[in-house]
Amino acid sequence: MIVVTGATGRLGRLVVDGLLESVPADHVVAAVRNPGKAADLAARGVKIKEADYERPETLKGVFAPGDTVLFISGDAVGRRLGQHRAVVDAARAAEVARIVYTSVLHADTTPLALAADHRGTEEHIRASGIPFTFLRNGFYTEVYAASVLQGVEHGVIFGAAGEGRVAGAARADFAAAAVAVLTREEDGDKIYELSGDTAWSLPELAAEVSAATGRPVVYQDLPHADYRQALIDAGLPEPAATMYADIDLDIVRGALSPTPGELSALIGRPTTPLRESVAAILREA
Ligand SMILES: NC(=O)c1ccc[n+]([C@@H]2O[C@H](COP(=O)([O-])OP(=O)(O)OC[C@H]3O[C@@H](n4cnc5c(N)ncnc54)[C@H](OP(=O)(O)O)[C@@H]3O)[C@@H](O)[C@H]2O)c1
Repeated sequence: MIVVTGATGRLGRLVVDGLLESVPADHVVAAVRNPGKAADLAARGVKIKEADYERPETLKGVFAPGDTVLFISGDAVGRRLGQHRAVVDAARAAEVARIVYTSVLHADTTPLALAADHRGTEEHIRASGIPFTFLRNGFYTEVYAASVLQGVEHGVIFGAAGEGRVAGAARADFAAAAVAVLTREEDGDKIYELSGDTAWSLPELAAEVSAATGRPVVYQDLPHADYRQALIDAGLPEPAATMYADIDLDIVRGALSPTPGELSALIGRPTTPLRESVAAILREA
């Protein structure tokens, strides 16, 4: 069986869609925190199992010997490591064949604060002895959906990333990479550093929004402290505002700019260009 955890999230749903193009539905398990959200997946023939990373008792019986598991990281940044260890322990106890984990670009060396949980999870997976594939994902371009919409509404996109560059790719590109590794034989342990083919800056993002809407949109760079405060004033809790402002400093340092081409190689096509992702964000708004 191919087991997809977090299957009711946006990445998980794209992965299940991709799997069902080449794998019979009764070979796919959606392991989800809330089975009530997975009725549509059940209707397509996918087996649904409850798996809440926060409640280890729900993780018993989710995995079986020989399974290939796509372990999609949780969203409780800073609190995830304990949750993730519980998932890995359950997978090891069940003797799964492989664990494919969605990590972060250059998890071992990146300055990104959000990478600490991923680093700890990677270490726990290595120590478990389960054959692994790490999908070290860069940023989804959709992470900038709020910035795009801010640009449309106010004509300005704010940030503290200066001319720093982000090799973003569509969430669907990262999902296609997961499908590729889940549906082929992999020998030994593998690490993929996944990012878009082209890195772009926030001024270039503003220019794309301007081109797509026919209205002037500019990027305004703020000092880190001012940007953090602007995020708080906009309603973000302080820890989240700090995290986002710090991410921009890390972008200046190049943490998200590498373009090794491993994502396009894995999916067999170029990654989705910024222009297409901006158009999709505007269409779906
Ligand atoms: N590369 C990037 O740019 C980027 C950006 C944001 C996040 N991420 C990471 O990539 C993951 C997937 O991205 P996404 O776009 O699919 O995010 P998403 O739409 O927010 O989905 C997050 C998924 O994690 C599940 N989850 C959270 N806590 C859980 C728990 N305690 N037990 C079981 N499942 C739990 C959620 O379950 P429910 O459906 O029940 O809510 C949901 O399915 C995120 O969780 C995060 O770790 C990456």
